[in-house]
Amino acid sequence: MVTPHEQATRVKVRDKFFRLYLQKEKIDEIVNGLAARIDQDYSGKTPLILGILNGAFIFASDLVRKLHIPCEISFVKYSSYHGLESSEEINRLIGLNEGIRGRDVIIVEDIVDTGFTMAQLLTDLKNHEPASLRIASFCFKTEAFRENFSIDYCGLEIPKLFVVGYGLDYDGAGRNFPDIYQLDESDV
Ligand code: IMP
Repeated sequence: MVTPHEQATRVKVRDKFFRLYLQKEKIDEIVNGLAARIDQDYSGKTPLILGILNGAFIFASDLVRKLHIPCEISFVKYSSYHGLESSEEINRLIGLNEGIRGRDVIIVEDIVDTGFTMAQLLTDLKNHEPASLRIASFCFKTEAFRENFSIDYCGLEIPKLFVVGYGLDYDGAGRNFPDIYQLDESDV
């Protein structure tokens, strides 16, 4: 296993091998682009950036540090994934602890896969009557998507791959890699 600051073309996370998919320099460029769009769209406003734990903690912290507009940041914790599979059973582990009525809210997620987690969060948040609700997701697995909301700020569309790094984990491990790695099924 490599240390988090060492870039490797192939890493082992628990029992599986992963190969380099997206380097941190490219990630940085993508986040810069998203931040510039948000700056422009929210000029004169102070949105609440709402990250979804655990996965979005790195993307959310990078994104807010690149914004020039004032913002607040908070987190909720929703969980649905087990190992390599998404599940329709969503657990709300930490809820909202501030009022969002009348606020401009931007949900920040690491990856949208089936979309079930986000759909549940959208339903929950809409009940609190925010002034506006938008979604920023670093990755979007378009082929796996089974919902019908749109992602306002999408970093990268990816095929149906399992990825780790930049906040994304495999069974709790691999979140701290600065680069993103994809599952390497060749296992050699
Ligand atoms: P969804 O509910 O199927 O859209 O799954 C969303 C959540 O599943 C994300 O917040 C991630 O935590 C997790 N997830 C989905 N795909 C991956 C992946 O490729 N690697 C790691 N976690 C993933």
